[in-house]
Amino acid sequence: MKLKLAVLPGDGIGPEIIDQAMKAVKAIAAKFGHELEYEFGLTGAIAIDQLGAPYPDVTHDLCMQADAVLFGAIGDPKYDNNPKATIRPEQGLLLMRKKLGLYANIRPVVTFPSLLHKSPLRRELIEGADFVAIRELTGGLYFGDKGRLDNGNTAFDTCTYSRFEVERILKLAFEFAMKRKKKLTVVDKANVLETSRLWREIAQEMAPIYPEVTTEYMFVDNAAMRIIQWPKDFDVMVTENLFGDILTDEASVITGSLGLSPSASIGIHTSVFEPIHGSYPQAAGKNIANPVATILSAAMMFEYAFDLHKEGALIRKAVNASLDANVVTVDISEGKSYSTSEVGDWIADWIAAN
Ligand code: IPM
Ligand code: MN
Repeated sequence: MKLKLAVLPGDGIGPEIIDQAMKAVKAIAAKFGHELEYEFGLTGAIAIDQLGAPYPDVTHDLCMQADAVLFGAIGDPKYDNNPKATIRPEQGLLLMRKKLGLYANIRPVVTFPSLLHKSPLRRELIEGADFVAIRELTGGLYFGDKGRLDNGNTAFDTCTYSRFEVERILKLAFEFAMKRKKKLTVVDKANVLETSRLWREIAQEMAPIYPEVTTEYMFVDNAAMRIIQWPKDFDVMVTENLFGDILTDEASVITGSLGLSPSASIGIHTSVFEPIHGSYPQAAGKNIANPVATILSAAMMFEYAFDLHKEGALIRKAVNASLDANVVTVDISEGKSYSTSEVGDWIADWIAAN
């Protein structure tokens, strides 16, 4: 099969982790006889520096013409402490999500048997935890009207959701639940927010279409507690943009490191596969960042963008083998730690050999 990829390394550790994911992708392509074609594009701070925009049109065109986008991370500290900056790297990510119509971000939360002891949570609570968080990605506070009033002394962000946006993400979530353990948790703040009440109303309308799915409703504050108190209670969770952002960083604690959590952003145009972590500028260029989240994002790419399940499964097996063999970066190592590129090489070699 022909695989046409747009590869967007971005900022910080982005280029290093993308290199490792590409090693795995190339090893898979060679093994299964796929014809790989890929082109690099600029996003984030590096795109601002070189082209004056965080998601330039050339990058968008590249994404539109590709079958899948593999994305690293964006963000640069030189913007973080400058609230007055008018162009910011993160805008590139948001613009990419919006222009590609990526309304659903799928973030699996699973534990790795060899890393159970790495989580600050007790083993018996997390062993066997396996759920999928589905985060709405192109609405809510991230994209609503925002601005300043009162000579800059008052600021506002608005949370808006329309019926079609809620229906399409809930449909996807119900369908996910149908393919899994048939339990859907709709997370909102319907005791306070009007947008949440709309979500809940629509979810209640749709639930009878999926009679086999047990649908439960949970306030986000309670969900934040339940996720780490009893993670095995969840199967599929669906929520709006900002709640999903926060809850999925929290959920990565179950896995053992933020460096292990992949994601798929899907919707109208080309899907994007990206780790849930950020650009980790403190580690940039040091060859110490954990490449596993990006490598697992590549596994999701084979499955979601190309329907190539054996390929995805082999990448997962290779990652599990590296964890079992303790070929891991410093964030999860005990004793010897390996560099980013050593982990990437080990995983690619394992794929080639198995
Ligand atoms: C994520 C990130 C982004 C988000 C940032 C970098 C804008 O935290 O993908 O979760 O908030 O969506
Ligand atoms: Mn986030």
